[in-house]
Amino acid sequence: MTLSLDQLRRCHVAVDLGAARTRVYLKHQGLIVDEPSVASVNTNTGALIAVGTLAERMAGRTPEHIRVVRPVSGGTVVDIDMAQRMLRYLVGDKVRRAWRRKPTLRAAVCVPHEAEPLALRAAVETMTGLGARRVELVDTLIAAAVGCGLPVEQAEATMIVVCGAATTQVAVLSLGAIVAAEKVPLGGDAIDHAVVQHLRNTHELVLPSQGVRPLHLALNASGPDGWEGTEVHGRDVSTGCARSVRVDGREVRDAIHTPLTAVLDSIGRVLRLCPPDLVADLGDRGVMLAGGSARLPGLDKMLRSATGMPVHVARNADVCAVEGLGSMLEGRLKPLVLEPVTT
Ligand SMILES: Nc1ncnc2c1ncn2[C@@H]1O[C@H](COP(=O)(O)OP(=O)(O)OP(=O)(O)O)[C@@H](O)[C@H]1O
Ligand SMILES: [Mg+2]
Repeated sequence: MTLSLDQLRRCHVAVDLGAARTRVYLKHQGLIVDEPSVASVNTNTGALIAVGTLAERMAGRTPEHIRVVRPVSGGTVVDIDMAQRMLRYLVGDKVRRAWRRKPTLRAAVCVPHEAEPLALRAAVETMTGLGARRVELVDTLIAAAVGCGLPVEQAEATMIVVCGAATTQVAVLSLGAIVAAEKVPLGGDAIDHAVVQHLRNTHELVLPSQGVRPLHLALNASGPDGWEGTEVHGRDVSTGCARSVRVDGREVRDAIHTPLTAVLDSIGRVLRLCPPDLVADLGDRGVMLAGGSARLPGLDKMLRSATGMPVHVARNADVCAVEGLGSMLEGRLKPLVLEPVTT
């Protein structure tokens, strides 16, 4: 199946079902949903209690009969029924009714690079269950590159690194197609997990789910010890009592060294797969960082010093994939042939 801009222009809605957040773009309206991909369910009755931000706030604070679930994992819909219920709730009654009235609702969904056929089918089934008669699948790397405003249709290399919650995807594009790309199953969640594990192992402290964010500042520190550290509060592993410890910048940087090295290695492998002319283009143009984890303080600085290339963080880093799909729907893109995604 070869996907053309013509087919995308006929779509009414663009969806990005991410491991951390779900985004929905409605043609002629723009981004209408940007919420955590989380739902909370009553396990006794099966009823949906909350979705999105409200459900995420419940995580880790629920009584036994309420379960907080994530229907998307690793960029793949793992619970189709729950993903449909979550999307139905998030788009709201008005849009849902409009979709039901449309006999030929068409949807575009971005899917991770080289997603398994089963993952592609799950994305299609999720949307058909919501009333879509036809579903177009677009590689997240192309959607994000378009959303960042990269001139993907030109005979010139552009490099994009999409740092999501569960995956990091790297690609070099030219003439509207992917020349070389790679996906690593590591993202913002792996970085947070590494910090949480470090605190558990060295300080015997269990951090609350939102406790990692202040520690990200350690990445942005300049000099060997540049960041004087911060106090974090959590639960003592053995006593179970609330306790706080002081964490310094170097330990945070050491803790996240492994996932960050994996991302750097992946960039190196993609560059090695590219013809030298394209790599030479990148020396001037540099690398574009997209995805929510691109906002990790200091990530751009670290990649700049490791690759020696200019590194830019997209203005709309977290939403650029769905906004890229949106531009294709609105017909704002010059004609180009898109990478086929086969189901
Ligand atoms: N300001 C920030 N600083 C650090 N990390 C951030 C920031 N904002 C978002 N993140 C991280 O970005 C990740 C979410 O990014 P994004 O919304 O691109 O994920 P996703 O599209 O749902 O995931 P995936 O594409 O892997 O399925 C989370 O891990 C979150 O912790
Ligand atoms: Mg994503």
